[in-house]
Amino acid sequence: MMIFDIQLADELSAIAHLPVQEISDMLEIPPDRQLGDRAFPCFKLAKTMRKNPQLIAQEIADHIKKPNFIERIETKGAYVNFFFNRAVFAQTVLEDILNKGERYGSSDKGNGSVICIDFSAPNIAKPFHIGHLRSTVIGNSLYKIYEFLGYKCIGINHLGDWGTQFGKLITAYKHWGIKDDLEKEPIRALLDIYVKFHDEAEKDPSLEDEARMWFKRMEDGDEEALSLWRWFKDLSLREFNKIYDMLGVKFDYYTGESFYNDKMDRVVELLQEKGLLTESQGALVVDLSQYDMPPCMIKKTDGTTLYATRDITAAIYRKETFDFDKCLYVVAYQQDLHFRQLFKVIELMGFDWYDKLFHVPFGMVSMEEGTLSTRKGRVVFLEDVLQKAVDRTLDIIKEKNPGLENKEDVAKQVGIGAVVFHDLINNRIKDIVFSWDQVLNFDGETGPYVQYAHARAMSILAKATQTITGEMGGDLLTEDETLELIDLLARFPEAIEAACQANEPSIVARHTIDIAQAFNKFYKNHMVIVEDDELQRARLTLVYATAQVIRIGLGLLGIQAPAKM
Ligand code: ARG
Repeated sequence: MMIFDIQLADELSAIAHLPVQEISDMLEIPPDRQLGDRAFPCFKLAKTMRKNPQLIAQEIADHIKKPNFIERIETKGAYVNFFFNRAVFAQTVLEDILNKGERYGSSDKGNGSVICIDFSAPNIAKPFHIGHLRSTVIGNSLYKIYEFLGYKCIGINHLGDWGTQFGKLITAYKHWGIKDDLEKEPIRALLDIYVKFHDEAEKDPSLEDEARMWFKRMEDGDEEALSLWRWFKDLSLREFNKIYDMLGVKFDYYTGESFYNDKMDRVVELLQEKGLLTESQGALVVDLSQYDMPPCMIKKTDGTTLYATRDITAAIYRKETFDFDKCLYVVAYQQDLHFRQLFKVIELMGFDWYDKLFHVPFGMVSMEEGTLSTRKGRVVFLEDVLQKAVDRTLDIIKEKNPGLENKEDVAKQVGIGAVVFHDLINNRIKDIVFSWDQVLNFDGETGPYVQYAHARAMSILAKATQTITGEMGGDLLTEDETLELIDLLARFPEAIEAACQANEPSIVARHTIDIAQAFNKFYKNHMVIVEDDELQRARLTLVYATAQVIRIGLGLLGIQAPAKM
């Protein structure tokens, strides 16, 4: 909560005899500034204070100790309405932003406690598709948000680099693979032979046995199998890294599923010791029927391990290695059952930190029909999507701003930023439809819209004839639109905290859009480069602060903010 709201909540708490937290949850921002800048509804107090809410409102208005930034208090029905002293408010907020600079909104609340964030995790030898993009951008943003609030983050890419599919790939490669293709366009070639495997296996089921045999050889440490697997993995990683570079995403560890190969025996033994393993048709499982869940498979009939086996092992390894306070799994909601099973098994094993594991689910992305060429089959390649966003943006820039320098760089920042923003603006659990018109619309609730507001602010600053001195001239920043903007800037830190609490980057995205919209409204109504030096300086300060805050907001989403576009 911002400092003013805290002060106000303190005073209200003293008079209404409710805890500050409860009070601040009750404080509202009236839909219309004519009604006040904050409103406090008294309905809830009727019970404890045994009076009708209107009377309570009056009593509070008469007796509250008025904080210095409040100019006037009125009541309307059961509401106490507070009006800011706009000059004090503007002055204080802008001073704070100028002082903190690019750290505005940060804190040391996290106190260095460790947050593991398991995100992205594409599957080797398969395309990095638009669904993995969501995990990547949400995880990346959470990483930045937690870090900004003083946590120590550990970003883990739990690559899908182990499992029966590699047995299939090796089989396919042995039968039909061509080395040249693989080196040139590895993911596409790998996908092709993978698809071919499935087609052929329908006709000839013995291919499945062959595939199982190869995976078994991998798990048994067979050098031929492993060197093919390693080659597939290297090729895939090279491709994935191109995408991570485009997005500007980094990981602290690329410990994929295969990393746990030599660590699983111990875990299976532990499960055995705890008496959690039962045999079911030759396979080893943890029975979870008591908890209304299907059994969690630990080992298949042929003794090979599974996704769940590796996730149990990974959780224990991470706890022992990093001693995390939280471990987040940014994974599509389809895997909800998997994570409930995982967390339950960890609990049953007697680890008291099972409640520090969190699945951070997100909805599906589908493509609007006809937006992409699907000549490659039904799979949408992320690299194509990003490249197309950049190309289209470049076309728009050439049309709108032909004189711009570094058009290509800006097109990258804007095009990719647009895709990322589109992924983050909605509540993450919502399914989204990817539509080009929406993604690149410069007037909608989009990345380009926010970036454009920032670039506009930067260009105003570049045209200024005054310099910002730190003398805000708060008394010159009191119009309605101006106050609206300043209030949003003031509440920005609280949006970051809320985003962290709910693991929901969309809260930051939403707030950043709101600031961009309020800024455009301010700018439409008030000239900044005016003759009056003091007025120009005051408005410039606000423009400067706004650009600063938008930049921080975009940064927390993993999006760049070009100064010109
Ligand atoms: N590779 C998996 C997939 O694409 C996601 C892995 C998520 N992380 C985890 N620890 N299970 O579906």
